[in-house]
Amino acid sequence: MVSYKELGLVNTREMFAKAINGGYAIPAFNFNNMEQLQAIIKASAETKSPVILQVSKGARNYANQTLLRYMAQGAVEYAKELGWENPQICLHLDHGDSFEVCKSCVDFGFSSVMIDGSSLPYEENIALTKKVVEYAHQFDVTVEAELGVLAGVEDDVQAEESHYTKPEEVIDFATRTGCDSLAISIGTSHGAYKFKPEQCTRDPQTGKLVPPPLAFDVLDAIMEKLPGFPIVLHGSSSVPQEYVDIINTHGGNLPDAVGIPEEQLRKAAKSAVCKINIDSDSRLAFTAAVRKVFADKPGEFDPRKYCGPARDEMTKLYKHKIIEVLGSDGKAE
Ligand code: G3H
Ligand code: 13P
Ligand code: ZN
Repeated sequence: MVSYKELGLVNTREMFAKAINGGYAIPAFNFNNMEQLQAIIKASAETKSPVILQVSKGARNYANQTLLRYMAQGAVEYAKELGWENPQICLHLDHGDSFEVCKSCVDFGFSSVMIDGSSLPYEENIALTKKVVEYAHQFDVTVEAELGVLAGVEDDVQAEESHYTKPEEVIDFATRTGCDSLAISIGTSHGAYKFKPEQCTRDPQTGKLVPPPLAFDVLDAIMEKLPGFPIVLHGSSSVPQEYVDIINTHGGNLPDAVGIPEEQLRKAAKSAVCKINIDSDSRLAFTAAVRKVFADKPGEFDPRKYCGPARDEMTKLYKHKIIEVLGSDGKAE
């Protein structure tokens, strides 16, 4: 048993309370490799933003859970080396799908876990979430739960259609489970294809897809039921079209990739939405930078020469999200 407190990590409780009161959101960035982690820490340290490092099941399979946890431990020291005296870094399990995986993360030094029972019948979601909360809270580890189904790929859980969170269920769910935060479904979804072209209109000038707005009425109704309760948005990449264009003009093929417009995320960040999950945008930044090096310098074969530019591009992206979208800069001085 390793306590996250010994590793210099923090849970989400204080981060979220401050974010709700301050009208901003904490970035939750997924990481799978060293370059992504370096970029996240550099961007957070340079902007003094609290940050949540997320580890998905896919990341654990790809990089190994043990290695990822030691990398996060190293990230705290790296942040200090960069001059961030009091780093506010949370290590979070993204989309935990069983009590066992949540327990293993709690026991291994994670400071926060998500139990995603959103695909289960309501009562089963409650029972599983409650079991995880009872275990995690003994060690002061915070727990995110999910109610409502996002469209698209949710790790192993695939949903064809989204089902918005039902505001009439949230009081009962939060009270009976004791969860610390609630991920909701209001129209976001995972990946780089968040909407089908037929759900969008097209900008006549650029031919690009313009997505439908998020269901802010559902968010408002949830906030009315649970005033001041921390709300989480998954699937919040904006799929920057400049990256999609670079990828598509340098040998890639991402037709009609579309995300959540940043002005909608800015609006959400000012509300009780205090955690915004971003993964796909980092993948796009990485891929765009690598494809460009490969196209411009076909003789290059040193991975540092293409992973380095990818890391720089991701750092730029993370800083942009922190400063221009979530407003979390300067909140962890
Ligand atoms: O929720 C989905 C995250 O983007 C993680 O995706 O399972 O491919 O690592 P992944
Ligand atoms: P994106 O695919 O929109 O980046 O969402 C990531 C996410 O929700 C991770 O849990
Ligand atoms: Zn997610």
